[in-house]
Amino acid sequence: MAIKFNKKSKEFHLYNSSISYIIKILDNNQLGNLYYGKRIHHKESFSYLFEGGMRPLAAYVFEDDTNFSLQHTRQEYPSYGTTDFRYPAFEIKQRNGSRITNFEFEAYNIFKGKKKLEKLPATYVENEIEAQTLEIILYDKLIKTRLLLSYTIYEALPIITRNAKFLHEGKEEIILTKAMSCSLDLPDYDYEMVHLAGAWSRERHVKTKKLEQGIQSIYSLRGTSSAEHNPFIALKRPYTTEFQGEVYGFSLVYSGNFLGEVLVDTHSTSRIMLGIHPNMFEWILHENESFQTPEVVMAYSDEGLNGMSKAYHKLYRTRLARGYWRDKSRPILINNWEATTFDFNEEIILNIAKTAKDLGIELFVLDDGWFGERNNDKAGLGDWYVNTKKLPDGIVGLSKKIEEMGMKFGLWFEPEMVNKDSNLYRNHPDWIIHTPNRSASHCRNQYILDFSRKEVVDYIYEAMSKVLREASISYVKWDMNRYMTECYSVAKTAENQGKVMHEYVLNVYSLYEKLTSEFPYILFESCSSGGARFDPGILYYAPQGWTSDNTDAVERMKIQYGTSFVYPISSMGAHVSEVPNQQVIRTTPLETRANVAYFGAFGYELDLNNLSKKERALVKKQVEFMKEKRELIQKGTFYRLVSPLENNINSWMVVSEDKCEALVGYYKILNTANDGFKRIKLHGLDSNKKYNINDNKQNVFFGDELMYAGIPVKQEDFCSKDGDFTSVLYYLKEA
Ligand code: DGJ
Repeated sequence: MAIKFNKKSKEFHLYNSSISYIIKILDNNQLGNLYYGKRIHHKESFSYLFEGGMRPLAAYVFEDDTNFSLQHTRQEYPSYGTTDFRYPAFEIKQRNGSRITNFEFEAYNIFKGKKKLEKLPATYVENEIEAQTLEIILYDKLIKTRLLLSYTIYEALPIITRNAKFLHEGKEEIILTKAMSCSLDLPDYDYEMVHLAGAWSRERHVKTKKLEQGIQSIYSLRGTSSAEHNPFIALKRPYTTEFQGEVYGFSLVYSGNFLGEVLVDTHSTSRIMLGIHPNMFEWILHENESFQTPEVVMAYSDEGLNGMSKAYHKLYRTRLARGYWRDKSRPILINNWEATTFDFNEEIILNIAKTAKDLGIELFVLDDGWFGERNNDKAGLGDWYVNTKKLPDGIVGLSKKIEEMGMKFGLWFEPEMVNKDSNLYRNHPDWIIHTPNRSASHCRNQYILDFSRKEVVDYIYEAMSKVLREASISYVKWDMNRYMTECYSVAKTAENQGKVMHEYVLNVYSLYEKLTSEFPYILFESCSSGGARFDPGILYYAPQGWTSDNTDAVERMKIQYGTSFVYPISSMGAHVSEVPNQQVIRTTPLETRANVAYFGAFGYELDLNNLSKKERALVKKQVEFMKEKRELIQKGTFYRLVSPLENNINSWMVVSEDKCEALVGYYKILNTANDGFKRIKLHGLDSNKKYNINDNKQNVFFGDELMYAGIPVKQEDFCSKDGDFTSVLYYLKEA
């Protein structure tokens, strides 16, 4: 790995064994991009990759020159309004009304390791030899503002991270109306855009479309990263598959409004941008103030989509997620939400917990409804003290009783919300986000607390930390169940209203930071009506997240499949729930429900007392199985084999780092009549190792047989011999 600067050619070359990224200081002293992709040899100069020339209707930078126009130049962080007519990476409104800027190269800095980002989550290094960083400083002398562009390249991964920072020194204030985290111009547009779209209960389904001239974009203006779009775009070649071909990934480490777009211009280049959505964003900078954008993580693979995902999984599992639980085996949990919703008392809870304990489950999670007057979704949010009518001995007493059973205890919070029918709202009606003299819309009868105000966040911190300090709590589920409307903070002046949505996110992060630092042994699981804030920003604080409220095994295959494009399976909360399933009223075999949920942070979400004796015995076996395999599942390399979005089959697998063991899931969604023979070809094994399958000494195969000839899938191997939604697991161990 190296970052080289060539003084003569004015080029920076960032490279490791798999990728190269080349930046050039252009003739106008701004920054251009010459190349990003598979590693190429280092040379003194790559200036032949700069393409200029005359074109009708182009505007040119220099007098008596018809060669240099930004319109045709691939740039690093472009502006609008000089010679480039495409959408810019940033925009600065100045006091005289102008939005024209000129950021020219001033200096650079190359160092080992990677800096932290101010108030923002970001990937990190544990040792400075793991990565190298290039900072390029540009200066606009008229407005006296510096722009710092940072690039970090990891030694062992095909990953470059980027961010931008504006530092204003001028006496006259400036207003940032757009500040994307990265912009990248690629020389052609022969790509398909892959992204993850959906809605509540069908989050992160994979969507693919061919790029066309014009703009294709994804976004959230909902205040969270959202269930509708995830802050991630990949550009793949049309021929790229899961295992072959080029793909570029762009993933934003942020949990609020975002915009991701690919602009294909008339001369067939593609501009990819990702960052905070410029709508609703306006950041005023007075003298000596600065603005830091979130980070974008770019991954390149010429080994298909799985190659890209593998890089993201490794980085996000080990250098984005943090803390005590990052590498620890995750406890197998039972959550009472689908079993009871709000309707429970201590006896009901202890009854569920006791059976769970008998079957080997390690953690009981008490969901919504334990506090204030929270007997339905109309009241109580914001009142973070126990409802003693339901739990007479309080959370302290209940957690003690559960711990005495030999289980750990976890608790649900929704810190950012309030019901009007709550003491918190009655005492502080102006603490909600609302626009003066306009009505405030509700969602699920709740309102959003104005987290852009420090006193509000401090109050919630006190209330939550009191509960966490007093009781024996090992896990917190942090929920967030609505999107933001009528966004305005009554505590801010008019000129600062454009800061509210971003400051809200920053303060969600600061509360997470405070609580995770004070309670380092608590496992935090994020949630947002299922997966409406499942993003890399939150993963920095909570190493696992509730993937979706949809717990149906078939629906979950699609959701977990799409989520795995970016996120490691260790981050995906996945539970076995009752049948008929509460979301889609489908009945799937208990085996299949577990066979899907094993490929995630595993748990149960039902009253096990309602199962038959035989089913409970099966649950016990499942729990034992997961305890044996969870290290492999959590830390192994995950591969998608067959997509449930395009097939009647879903298949995926996970291989240990030493390639000595693997677990394969194979799922047949609908039963078929008189079907042909099926084989599943595995991936990532050692060709020369021999593996036995499902502990059967007769079933011994070389890795190359399993990868190239495949496993013949036999009807008799399936968990249910007939009917729909059947599945089979293959556990491979080196023989
Ligand atoms: C939405 C979550 O996704 C559910 O799991 C549950 O916690 C409910 N909120 C509780 O209100």
